[in-house]
Amino acid sequence: VEDIDPVRFLGNRSTGRMGFSVARRAAARGARVTLIAGPTELTTPAGVQRRDVRSASDMRSTLHDVLGPSLGGADALVMAAAVGDYRPAHIHNEKMKRGAQPIQLELVANPDILAELGSMRTGSSPLLVGFAVETADEPTLIEHARGKLSKKRVDFIVANSASIGFGGESNEAILVGSDDIERLPRMTKDELADRILRGLFEGDFAIALERAAAFCRLMSAGCTSFADDAEAVSADRASELTTRALRFHSLSTEFGGCASLWRRESLD
Ligand code: CTP
Repeated sequence: VEDIDPVRFLGNRSTGRMGFSVARRAAARGARVTLIAGPTELTTPAGVQRRDVRSASDMRSTLHDVLGPSLGGADALVMAAAVGDYRPAHIHNEKMKRGAQPIQLELVANPDILAELGSMRTGSSPLLVGFAVETADEPTLIEHARGKLSKKRVDFIVANSASIGFGGESNEAILVGSDDIERLPRMTKDELADRILRGLFEGDFAIALERAAAFCRLMSAGCTSFADDAEAVSADRASELTTRALRFHSLSTEFGGCASLWRRESLD
């Protein structure tokens, strides 16, 4: 939010739920998560480190603090925040008093935080995901999302309509990448968060999962937190994984690398 005076501010109708869902689901998948949250009454998901901010400028400086000068502080940034595009040119120290005459509020542009990070990024890390909330029809929504994808230099944009995305527990989004688009059915925000995270880490996650499952089979103990993911692995695959696990056993540093990306309590 952007303060006008000690009792008034500019805000918008976003609830922050989508960002909290992404944080919750990323933590549940084993990622180390920092959630930078604007003013909200939502509770912090388990296992998530939270930094509270108020304005766009606070969010920007906190993000830079978390990511560091070379943006090495995270593997991915999912920018679900509904950042204000403008802020009052002056914040009044005292409550503004009522008068009979119309007043004008001068607004100045906020920096585009995501676009700044997109232009600072040199390689492909951190992965950057933006959101695009629009009130337009679907073709225009997609066109605007494509514009944001290239202008902000991000990996993909989660585009949704303001009338569906704001407020409720569910969302209906279109994932817009540079080459393709994917229309997703209406789903809960937690489900959409999972879908976004799966898309982000398809390669890394699959590799980490295989290694972790293999490691767990090898140790055959204390790996219940992998049960869901491990179900996706067939019996044939399991025996292949066991063989690979024997190799990984001697390559514990390699495993350590993937475990730091997809940390699970049982492996810490
Ligand atoms: N965003 C940002 N900094 C801003 C405004 C937006 O980082 N000052 C990010 C949002 O978090 C989101 C993406 O940019 O991930 C798109 O935000 P959106 O409000 O849909 O678009 P804008 O770029 O602000 O453009 P417009 O409001 O004109 O649609």
